[in-house]
Amino acid sequence: MAKDFSLMEDSNRSSNPSIHEVSPLSRRTVLRASLGALAGGFFAPLTAVAAASATVAGGMIGFKSVPISTADTISVPEGYTYQVIAPWGDPVGMSGENHAFKDDGSNSAAHQENQIGMHHDGIHFFEQDGSKSGLLAMNHEYVDHGLLFTDGMATWTAEKVRKSQAAHGVSIVEVEDKGGKWSVVNPSPWGRRITASTRTELSGPVVGHVMVKTAADPAGRVVLGTLNNCASGITPWGTYLTAEENFINYFSGGDSLSEHEKRWGMKKGSSYRWHEHDARFDAVKNPNEPNRFGWIVEIDPYNPSSTPMKRTAMGRGAHEGATVAVTKDKRAVVYMGEDARFEYIYKFVSRDAIKPGGAVANASLLDHGTLYVAKFNADGKGEWLALTHGQGPLTAANGFADQAEVLIKARQASDLLGATKMDRPEWVEVDKEGWVYAALTNNSNRGGDKQPVADAANPRANNTQGNIIRWKEDGDFHATSFAWAHFVMAGDPSLERAEAKGNIKGDMFSCPDGLWIDARGLMWIQLDMSTSAMGKGDLKNMGNNAMLAADPRTGEVRRFLVGPSGCEVTGATATPDGKTMFVNIQHPGEPANESNNPANPRAISNWPDQKPTGRPRSATVVIRKIDGGIIGT
Ligand code: FEO
Ligand code: CA
Ligand code: CA
Ligand code: CA
Repeated sequence: MAKDFSLMEDSNRSSNPSIHEVSPLSRRTVLRASLGALAGGFFAPLTAVAAASATVAGGMIGFKSVPISTADTISVPEGYTYQVIAPWGDPVGMSGENHAFKDDGSNSAAHQENQIGMHHDGIHFFEQDGSKSGLLAMNHEYVDHGLLFTDGMATWTAEKVRKSQAAHGVSIVEVEDKGGKWSVVNPSPWGRRITASTRTELSGPVVGHVMVKTAADPAGRVVLGTLNNCASGITPWGTYLTAEENFINYFSGGDSLSEHEKRWGMKKGSSYRWHEHDARFDAVKNPNEPNRFGWIVEIDPYNPSSTPMKRTAMGRGAHEGATVAVTKDKRAVVYMGEDARFEYIYKFVSRDAIKPGGAVANASLLDHGTLYVAKFNADGKGEWLALTHGQGPLTAANGFADQAEVLIKARQASDLLGATKMDRPEWVEVDKEGWVYAALTNNSNRGGDKQPVADAANPRANNTQGNIIRWKEDGDFHATSFAWAHFVMAGDPSLERAEAKGNIKGDMFSCPDGLWIDARGLMWIQLDMSTSAMGKGDLKNMGNNAMLAADPRTGEVRRFLVGPSGCEVTGATATPDGKTMFVNIQHPGEPANESNNPANPRAISNWPDQKPTGRPRSATVVIRKIDGGIIGT
């Protein structure tokens, strides 16, 4: 187990990440091998895992389907086993004596700053010792105050705000496999919490802009914290990308909102109530603070003292995630969905090629490039429209003084460009054949009063089910045009309402959110049905939220895992050998948890502890095949 920081100096990751140059003999080259594989094979020839897939007869999916369930447990296929690690509240980086989890919500803010955050989301396994140990980087999207505190929000103090902020952000934990059982390593020099109060920096075109300067940060560069971290991505140079999604909900606006504030969904008041004790979140006192959130944040998990960087060249949005593809000339292309009704799909193309030399050599790669927004035309073709200041309508006369203002006001820029308003774009993934997939989770407002009607790419009014759309760029990933098609329309085919029926080949599902394509090329689909709508109406036959596998070549879909009651299944990753998979379970017990009061926290779920006291906890599920084989076969 490498715990010597000298091993992790960036100079040790400074060689070309090509897998061809990797010798199996040293830890540092093993690390480089995994970085080659990180790019989904764009740098790498067939890995051992990918080669193994060729031997699976009759398609890529080898497991037996798991039935729909409403039980408060995890179901996995026959021949598979699972364990639970890293639940909310467990210590990070240090042993637990002084800040062990207390299941009545009585841990202090200082405890929470060194404990795993709440409501796990995007996750990635960063290899340290092959498939035996590594660092799990994971997002904590939001919190339920009814779970976080003994008395919920019955009282409200600065200490409670600090604890709530500490339960947000990102956790980095060291994990290891000891004889088939995985555990978090504590103490560990790699263990790290990045919260809604951690020092981060803006980088790229927005730094120092008048719209990001505040009284506390007149230079417009240093931002405290990252929040509402939803999906995640990875770069070929070995860093983690975390997306700030519904950031606006943490800010309280005034009685009269500016057009800019309205376009970004600002309201007076905030259910998180941070603004009552932390003026940063009072947008009347600090109107520029919201402009400092909504960015893709890059974190180097291998360097625990590194500063998380908000990469502003990639634009501001209620970003779901950030998925990197690599062009033939080694430029990074980052795909991003903005999960909100009638918002957009973006891609960023870096100006420069990825350099040999890991995170240090590529420290400003994501600061220079071109941001585009997608327009899906009815004829199955599409265009990428550049968000470049001075081009087309993006001029000072239309309210964009410079490129920084275009990036801060990416929604307004996309409106003017006439981009396609989508049905809540969630995760985006890229397969081995160059198809780019986006999960469009649902849109209950489509076709509603004064709302856009259905179009070719978003073909359902009152879209309760969602769909997965895919496109192939015309040439390489940096192309400005593409051809698109629907991959699958979700929904129970037995429903009477024609627009709710799906066309799934295999097991039915609804509301796709998480997408992840593994090293073999198998696509994993994770569901986020609203827990208040679950089991009713168009979702009546769906059971709990689940994870399914889809074969991108055949379209076959099979249910792999069903989560506990009231949960969402979100975020998946695996060890390089494909034999251990990590999946996050978010908010078991919803909607009972959503009330911000702690009345009967176990009303819906008591997962995973199942103690007569305590409360449900988001956690990571580790899945293995009993025969030691590759997950999904
Ligand atoms: Fe955080 Fe769009 O799910
Ligand atoms: Ca999501
Ligand atoms: Ca979602
Ligand atoms: Ca959810």
